[in-house]
Amino acid sequence: MAQRAQISKISAFEGQEVTIKGWLYNKRSSGKLRFLLVRDGSAIIQCVVFRNDVSEQVFADADALTQESSLEVTGTVTADKRSPLGFELQVKDLKIVQLAHDYPITKKEHGTDFLMDHRHLWLRSKRQHAILRIRHQIIHAAREFFDDRDFTLVDSPIFTPNAAEGTTTLFETDYFGSSAYLTQSGQLYAEAGAMAFGKVYCFGPTFRAEKSKTRRHLTEFWMIEPEVAYFDLQDDMQLAEEFVSHLVQSVLKHRMPELLTLERDISKLEQIKAPFPKIHYNEAVDILKKHGSEFIPGDDFGAADETIISEQFDRPVIVHHYPAAIKAFYMKRDPQEPESALAMDMLAPEGYGEIIGGSQREDDYETLLNRIHEHNLPEEAFKWYLDLRKYGSVPHSGFGLGIERTVAWITGIRHVRETIPYPRLMQRLYP
Ligand code: 4AD
Ligand code: MG
Repeated sequence: MAQRAQISKISAFEGQEVTIKGWLYNKRSSGKLRFLLVRDGSAIIQCVVFRNDVSEQVFADADALTQESSLEVTGTVTADKRSPLGFELQVKDLKIVQLAHDYPITKKEHGTDFLMDHRHLWLRSKRQHAILRIRHQIIHAAREFFDDRDFTLVDSPIFTPNAAEGTTTLFETDYFGSSAYLTQSGQLYAEAGAMAFGKVYCFGPTFRAEKSKTRRHLTEFWMIEPEVAYFDLQDDMQLAEEFVSHLVQSVLKHRMPELLTLERDISKLEQIKAPFPKIHYNEAVDILKKHGSEFIPGDDFGAADETIISEQFDRPVIVHHYPAAIKAFYMKRDPQEPESALAMDMLAPEGYGEIIGGSQREDDYETLLNRIHEHNLPEEAFKWYLDLRKYGSVPHSGFGLGIERTVAWITGIRHVRETIPYPRLMQRLYP
């Protein structure tokens, strides 16, 4: 038995005989030669079967192989300048593990619905593979960023008794005869964490019963949320810009082949370095007016407005001081400007819209209690949250970054549905 090799590490085996275990990605024939493109999940290698070098059985098996059949292939690793990998395999032996019949995703064009119905198989294609590897890198870099800064991971529950981001997008579930809601954000619990550990983050799936069918909305998405005690809005914005620069730089450093597979314009990513421009909500409104938008001041920005604003800058832009009336109940208002919340959103370039929402939190007990009433939220469910303002309340701030929108932007793909292994949309719960 030859030694087992992983394709992405094949350069270490030049001139040696190895076995690769994987699947047939594609195949081509020419006279006495069969070219098998074999993938093992780490990369793809061309395996050359020459009739004179192998047994009749092996050659027949090479002929019988169909797309996505599983196989073990043994041969010698040789350098090959023409191949993207730089190496190919001169085959000596081949074993079919299972012959696949009629793999549904073929070379021809398929519609998005068809591909989404076959999402469990679609993940094997080059493009989806590249997107999800970049997603992994972004998540890795996100954890690394906070871990290196001594944040403690304190995860929030998924079943919650209360709303965090307004009651219109709550998923309600039966919880042993009473109601529970799928969390919209881990923030409120992260605030408790910040009072216990100083600097924390939580990272998990969050849910919104979004009735909007846009390219930016999922009903289940992943959010990473830092929360820091004694942090004001300025501190929060600085943390956010350093964080996002780190994510982009990490992808550039470790996932260049994937970015190239996706034909991403690398120059646009290379300029993503902190500091980012920061503008007041009113300045953003001025930009919209100047560009002939029909935006009504006081409203929240729509997708088209966000695109106009972000197009003015070559890196993400942070908009702060939104009208308090359109923001969540927990946001602190600016004492100098009581109609404005100490809130900030980060808008990604190239029309990708909001990737971060954050704020300084209301830290006064009475004010927060009034807000809970104004928003018609059940005081009972928030008793624990109010406690944080009774026992050693301090100024504190945090934000949430949506992983899928960030992946869409960094990979340069249009729709968030391809940025998560199994997207959950208003009309999709399968597979
Ligand atoms: O702006 P949002 O609603 O903020 C919060 O939930 C805060 N509690 C976060 C915090 O301060 N800890 O959501 C934060 C981010 C958005 O900027 C966006 O990237 C993403 O979450 N997001 C969605 N992503 C995909 N589909 C949806 N339906 C999303 N809703 C929000
Ligand atoms: Mg938001």
